[in-house]
Amino acid sequence: MNYKKVVVAGGGVLGSQIAFQSAYCGFDVTIWLRSEGSIGRTQPKLDKLKATYIEEIEKMAADENAWCAGIADSEQFDKEACLANTERAYASIKLELDMAKAVEDADLIIESMAENVDDKIAFYTKLAPLMPEKTVLVTNSSTLLPSQFAKYTGRPEKYLSLHFANSIWKNNTAEVMAQDKTEEKYFNELLEFATAIRMIGLPVRKEKNGYLLNSMLVPFLLSGLDLYAAGVSDPESIDIAWTHGTGAPKGPFQIFDTVGLTTAYNIVSQYQKVPGLLSPVLKKMMMPYNFKAMEKILKEYIDAGKLGMSTGEGFYKYEK
Ligand SMILES: NC(=O)c1ccc[n+]([C@@H]2O[C@H](COP(=O)([O-])OP(=O)(O)OC[C@H]3O[C@@H](n4cnc5c(N)ncnc54)[C@H](O)[C@@H]3O)[C@@H](O)[C@H]2O)c1
Repeated sequence: MNYKKVVVAGGGVLGSQIAFQSAYCGFDVTIWLRSEGSIGRTQPKLDKLKATYIEEIEKMAADENAWCAGIADSEQFDKEACLANTERAYASIKLELDMAKAVEDADLIIESMAENVDDKIAFYTKLAPLMPEKTVLVTNSSTLLPSQFAKYTGRPEKYLSLHFANSIWKNNTAEVMAQDKTEEKYFNELLEFATAIRMIGLPVRKEKNGYLLNSMLVPFLLSGLDLYAAGVSDPESIDIAWTHGTGAPKGPFQIFDTVGLTTAYNIVSQYQKVPGLLSPVLKKMMMPYNFKAMEKILKEYIDAGKLGMSTGEGFYKYEK
């Protein structure tokens, strides 16, 4: 893997994080955005990320349990070097509206635009003739498969998925998933790139909606919510059953509060929309689940402004 210049298409929640983390690890990063309005929305995200990295580095210096593996190894932690990397990353990221200029000399383009099939196809179609021969192209899509888009990229052999988790400086996984036209060489290169930006690269050898994480997490969260929606028990008891029963740090409702109840609502509706998200066995198991009741519960919380930790209250209350 000999990548130097990385272009991130889309500067939303994940695009800005991927750009910041890649720049933090020394890559030359450009974010391609479609409009001046997008610049106005992306720049504050980068400002916030800089503040977050600094805050996390300070916490790591003060408490050995507050570790962010995306920022540093615990054995080789050098606070000043981490702070300097953060400043350098922040100062070096370029925002570009001209697509041709943005992708000039790009080694890797990471598409992280909104989860909309038609918009992604339009983007790939416009991008295809502009990329240099060498460019490898990946999508960060959470639910869509790379085979769906490969033919629009003009380089199916160099096109695959690189899927990150939210808050990548601490939740540092990158799932690498090929489609049937991807050459093995690029699959391996992406695993190396994941390591180079301090992610744990996870190979996904068959196309699968939901990849590894969400294929397990979604059924787990829905099972917890169904127990509540069906009146079997309350959120706190369900969480305790899970955390004390398995030693896991959070139960389903604590996770809902962390990711936000709007996302939870989207997951419940997505389950019904994306057929491949669950295996046929899990789907059958979940047939009796009352999805309407789950949606209703979440909607009541959302309408009351209880969106989870971010608003100070979801299934639990938090100090602001
Ligand atoms: N949010 C998450 O937790 C998460 C985690 C992993 C992967 N993802 C994936 O990352 C991708 C982006 O998600 P996000 O949460 O950052 O979304 P977001 O809504 O925060 O950002 C989307 C970005 O795409 C841009 N965009 C939208 N339509 C466009 C178009 N037609 N042309 C050009 N740019 C356009 C927006 O301006 C914005 O910069 C999605 O594919 C999503 O599935 C999200």
